[in-house]
Amino acid sequence: MDFSLFKEKVRGSFKLDLNAYKENQLKRRLDNLMVKQKVNMGDYAGFFKLLASDHKAYMDFLDTLTINVSEFFRDRSMFNLLEEKVFPSLLNKSTLKIWSAACSSGAEPYSIAIILNELTPNRRHQIEGTDIDRNILQMAAEARYNPDQLRNVSGPRQAKYFRREGNLYFLSDNIKRMVSFRQHDLLLDPFGQNYDLIACRNVMIYFTREAQEALNIKFHKALSPGGVLFIGASEMIFNYKELGFDKITSCFYRRK
Ligand SMILES: C[S@@+](CC[C@H](N)C(=O)[O-])C[C@H]1O[C@@H](n2cnc3c(N)ncnc32)[C@H](O)[C@@H]1O
Repeated sequence: MDFSLFKEKVRGSFKLDLNAYKENQLKRRLDNLMVKQKVNMGDYAGFFKLLASDHKAYMDFLDTLTINVSEFFRDRSMFNLLEEKVFPSLLNKSTLKIWSAACSSGAEPYSIAIILNELTPNRRHQIEGTDIDRNILQMAAEARYNPDQLRNVSGPRQAKYFRREGNLYFLSDNIKRMVSFRQHDLLLDPFGQNYDLIACRNVMIYFTREAQEALNIKFHKALSPGGVLFIGASEMIFNYKELGFDKITSCFYRRK
């Protein structure tokens, strides 16, 4: 079985679109996994059989695909802009509808919740975090973090929103309650509508250019007019004008 057929079989059996991931990166990660799982390099038929029959191997395969690294206020200066420039321009509406797409362990939507809790303490907003990986969403709901994930959280915020037990930090219930989580595959599942803010950060880098372009069109459609797309610090939308966005500053694009 060649790699193309392997991707087709994975799509058929596991509903995962490997074609949308950058092929060289993906192959390198899968090759390493095959070595670890003692499958001969290039034996995609053997690898597929293993994934279909061994749950642990399948979970390792998902981990390889998903790369869950995240932290609170990732790229702190961008979260400062979100707080000081972007939210003030959106908060003429009383309730914001926000989507953190590919939210991993929840640090991103919870960072947004912390900011909104401070900017609008008496208002309720709808903040949703989604990810393809159910295990990481379970961890997001538990909201327990290690010190590294809090390195961009100021001292006063750490004291206000986290309880420390040993080497773990537990997020306070009032912030946890502001965010809901749901499984969603960006490449295959339908998108919602009328979002005021969509954060989709540090996941598109794994996707092909075609997949990125298709997603940017879908994000544009999913936003309300005036709504903002927040992307990762190493990401860029070259054709934002063509898509119907204005660039606010790096990382932030507003739907016209
Ligand atoms: C590096 S993390 C980014 C987390 C967070 N957005 C941040 O910037 O800190 C990438 C996340 O993308 C998720 N992911 C990968 N492929 C996905 C897909 N097709 N649909 C939804 N999420 C996906 C992974 O499970 C992982 O949690």
